Amino acid sequence: MTSAPAIHLRHISKVFGGVKALQDVDFDVGMGEVHCLAGENGCGKSTLIKIITGVYQPEPGAEIEIFGQRYAQITPTVARKAGIAVIWQDLALFAEMTVAENIAFEAVLGNRPRRVRHAEMRRDATAALDRLGVHLDLDARLGTLPIAERQMVAIARALVGEARLIFMDEPTASLTQTETDALLSVVRTLSAQGVTVVFVSHRLAEVLEIANRVTVLRDGRLVGVYLAEGMTQTRLTELMTGKTFDQHVAAQDTAASEPVLEVQGLTRKGEFRDISFALRRGEVLGLTGLIGAGRTELAHVLFGMTRPDAGTVTLDGRPVRFRSNRDAVAAGIAYVSEDRLALGLIQPQSISDNAVLAVLKKITGGAGLLSDDRQEGLVAHWVRELGVKIGKPGDAMNTLSGGNQQKLVLAKWLATQPKVLILDCPTVGVDVGARAGIFRIVRDLAAQGLGILLISDEVTEVHFNADRILHMAGGRIVGEYDPRQTRVEELEAAVYA
Ligand SMILES: Nc1ncnc2c1ncn2[C@@H]1O[C@H](COP(=O)(O)OP(=O)(O)OP(=O)(O)O)[C@@H](O)[C@H]1O
Ligand SMILES: [Mg+2]
Repeated sequence: MTSAPAIHLRHISKVFGGVKALQDVDFDVGMGEVHCLAGENGCGKSTLIKIITGVYQPEPGAEIEIFGQRYAQITPTVARKAGIAVIWQDLALFAEMTVAENIAFEAVLGNRPRRVRHAEMRRDATAALDRLGVHLDLDARLGTLPIAERQMVAIARALVGEARLIFMDEPTASLTQTETDALLSVVRTLSAQGVTVVFVSHRLAEVLEIANRVTVLRDGRLVGVYLAEGMTQTRLTELMTGKTFDQHVAAQDTAASEPVLEVQGLTRKGEFRDISFALRRGEVLGLTGLIGAGRTELAHVLFGMTRPDAGTVTLDGRPVRFRSNRDAVAAGIAYVSEDRLALGLIQPQSISDNAVLAVLKKITGGAGLLSDDRQEGLVAHWVRELGVKIGKPGDAMNTLSGGNQQKLVLAKWLATQPKVLILDCPTVGVDVGARAGIFRIVRDLAAQGLGILLISDEVTEVHFNADRILHMAGGRIVGEYDPRQTRVEELEAAVYA
């Protein structure tokens, strides 16, 4: 690359209280490059992005050059003027406004404070979406769109703002495989148009697929910069963690155990139909499939959040009919949702305010459960067991890194001492090391007799960690596999077909 680099940073450090989030990190990104930032939860990826985008100021001694220009200080305004945009996890869009307004409002209004010109807005929005090769209804309210399409709106908005450097912090975390593929193709399009993209993801396959180069951070320090070509997931994992993980099929024969949860002919109109299976005590039952397969909808019925139109659910041999998720919790079902924000756990309250317990009580109504002391003790126990890294107990919940937030959610549910644990995409946003940790725990829990329903759209995840796998498509169970007798490629071919 002969032209000035897009990003040239030296000696970037950042301290929060006592936590050294970044220590003397150098970071270089070439013009038009797709560059991935990789590393375990809490290693400083988001912090680095926030420094470049002016959200945080680095410690003294930092040198910052963007597109060849030196900056003494970057503020969000300076960053925007320099052509930097960020696609935040929450996307920072307006649910009540239309697609066109979200994309072009800021740019158009910015120039003409008193006259929002609709024609101009539509023209700009159309041009930006065309550049991405994406088709959306300009008049649709944003709030009605799926997350993947909202993301496209956020990216289009960045383009209207004339962004030349776009940061995406875990953009695929809540996307399905198909949506991810679409996003990766948009990233390629941007790169071909000369836009530089810095991308964070814990899905290493996708990192290696999309990136030109990868910068690896560990514990706030730079490990190195590597070409994606020739890099393997195993090697990248080693670089990120300093450890090696060998993936092997953990499946065991659980056919002899008695069922804890039985589902017979379960149907909910428009979502899924005629679902029958038994989850045995001590079993990890994988449930995989693409978007729209009905996996999460099924989980919602099992957790009492919605009601089935037909069919029966039996827990410990007794038929159950949950009127709410409180009933489900009281009966011994725990549900780690794919959307950790949904249950309101992640709030700017301090960890020691017992946000965890408060949420739990809200859901369970406190009825028939453990006393506070015992419950707090259990949460503390699981926080230790799961190796949740928290700074000071007084720190806000939302300062925890994504993976640690997820572990905390798991700890919360384990403290309810469930019989059945439903894990809905439990490793979204969780790094490889922590994933291995979570699955070790899942195994231990199964060994203690819990029945675990493991929902995931990452086929490798269920292949390596489940005892048995159900494949769901179009609202039905279309296949059952034994991981010990099925190659992961076969399973992938069946699911992604
Ligand atoms: N505003 C803040 N106040 C206090 N500590 C913070 C703050 N922001 C980040 N940290 C801490 O700095 C460290 C780096 O956090 P950061 O969010 O950059 O990690 P990350 O690499 O993005 O992790 P993840 O993969 O989980 O998103 C963590 O220990 C985190 O708890
Ligand atoms: Mg982060």
